[in-house]
Amino acid sequence: MKLLVINGPNLNMLGIREPEIYGERNYASLCAYITDAAAEAGVSCEIYQSNHEGAIVDKIQEAYSKVDGIVINPAAYTHTSVAIADALSAVAIPTVEVHLSDVTKRESFRHHSFVAPIAKKTYMGLGFEGYKKAIRYLTKNED
Ligand code: DQA
Repeated sequence: MKLLVINGPNLNMLGIREPEIYGERNYASLCAYITDAAAEAGVSCEIYQSNHEGAIVDKIQEAYSKVDGIVINPAAYTHTSVAIADALSAVAIPTVEVHLSDVTKRESFRHHSFVAPIAKKTYMGLGFEGYKKAIRYLTKNED
């Protein structure tokens, strides 16, 4: 089984970016955490980060028929991108949405997600652990 983890814009700034919301750990720590969670679940996992909407669309399209599950934190594109949602629908790869923070408790413009209706599950407000839960959901069907 092969998973693709996609992180959207500004997640590469973890550790610097609003630590009171996103925590003190940096992006390399998140990648190490995801790699460990995938190894624990016994699956291979590629991690991809981009600040560019079209690059994320390209990556989702490339995953077609190569990847068995997608974990995506679309970051700000969650709330704006029909293109990313359409790409996920097009490839029809089981997808889980993750947010480090609980977007429902933040500004109202973060309350809507274009990805949520396509995702099998959304984890939010759990920090890094949301990624582990997403991996376990896709690999073991665990909530
Ligand atoms: C985020 C929440 C989004 O609203 C925000 O734009 C992000 C990160 C999260 O992980 O909590 O960049 O997706």
